[in-house]
Amino acid sequence: MEQSEQARLVVEARELTRVYGNGAGTAVRALDGVSFQVRAGEFVAVMGPSGSGKSTLLNVIGALDRPTSGQIRVNGEDLSTLRDLDSFRARTVGFVFQLHNLIPTLTALENVMVPMQGAGLSGALQRRRATELLELVGLPGRGHHLPGQLSGGQRQKVAIARALANRPALLLADEPTGNLDSVSGDEVMGVFEQLHSEYGTAIIIVTHDVTVARRTHRILMMQDGRIIREDLVGDACTEALKALARSELGQALRANVPVAGLSGAEYLAFRQVLARLEE
Ligand SMILES: Nc1ncnc2c1ncn2[C@@H]1O[C@H](COP(=O)(O)OP(=O)(O)OP(=O)(O)O)[C@@H](O)[C@H]1O
Ligand SMILES: [Mg+2]
Repeated sequence: MEQSEQARLVVEARELTRVYGNGAGTAVRALDGVSFQVRAGEFVAVMGPSGSGKSTLLNVIGALDRPTSGQIRVNGEDLSTLRDLDSFRARTVGFVFQLHNLIPTLTALENVMVPMQGAGLSGALQRRRATELLELVGLPGRGHHLPGQLSGGQRQKVAIARALANRPALLLADEPTGNLDSVSGDEVMGVFEQLHSEYGTAIIIVTHDVTVARRTHRILMMQDGRIIREDLVGDACTEALKALARSELGQALRANVPVAGLSGAEYLAFRQVLARLEE
């Protein structure tokens, strides 16, 4: 593969396996020959049943876990030969988990500053960058709040800001909306979309929620440690459908509320079109 082509790939996984346990009867093949690529700036969802290997895959990509066999390159670096994995994690990837894992005794601002330690920034610069990141995720003026003084959605936004502390090329999120109500989940997805469009950060998000997955570009479907399917999202027709679904008319149709001026047949036709989104 050409150098330039490789440089544009943020993740390159080849035949990854991860086997837990070694007894013949007890071994679990959490990953069983996974190959895929993610380009710089891509927004990808990973879906699949519980136990299909989604978190294992994310952990291997983020160097929190090592594959049993296979090759994984992230941002051009081969993780199997990389000596300093701590430094790799700090420089290249940001993690957002289902439970935000914020440090309860530190303020939102201080939590965002934690990963910046060791990056050689002055205290003032760390503070400024953390403040900017909190603004970016839609939490201006909340820097001095402790995690316990924030809502679940706000805490998750702080966790996203923290994951971005060192401007990673790749953001890995494991069910970041899993514990949130739909409104907060929607806001958190809005932050991911903004990051992706404004900063070109590549994002891989694990989710059980189809509506969340449909807001990305591509969905990798996992089962039994394998990627069994790949769906592209976001063609022009789907985007138009999403816009319709979000509109006042779309909301009314989805909630089965009568709409003045629409005949029964027109109403039904619109509803059927919108139902395509849910498929
Ligand atoms: N540390 C471990 N030791 C042994 N088995 C493990 C370990 N971690 C995961 N597994 C097994 O590997 C398989 C994949 O687990 P993984 O956590 O990746 O699934 P998942 O797709 O993220 O599921 P969920 O949707 O429930 O989070 C499961 O069968 C799980 O039991
Ligand atoms: Mg999981």
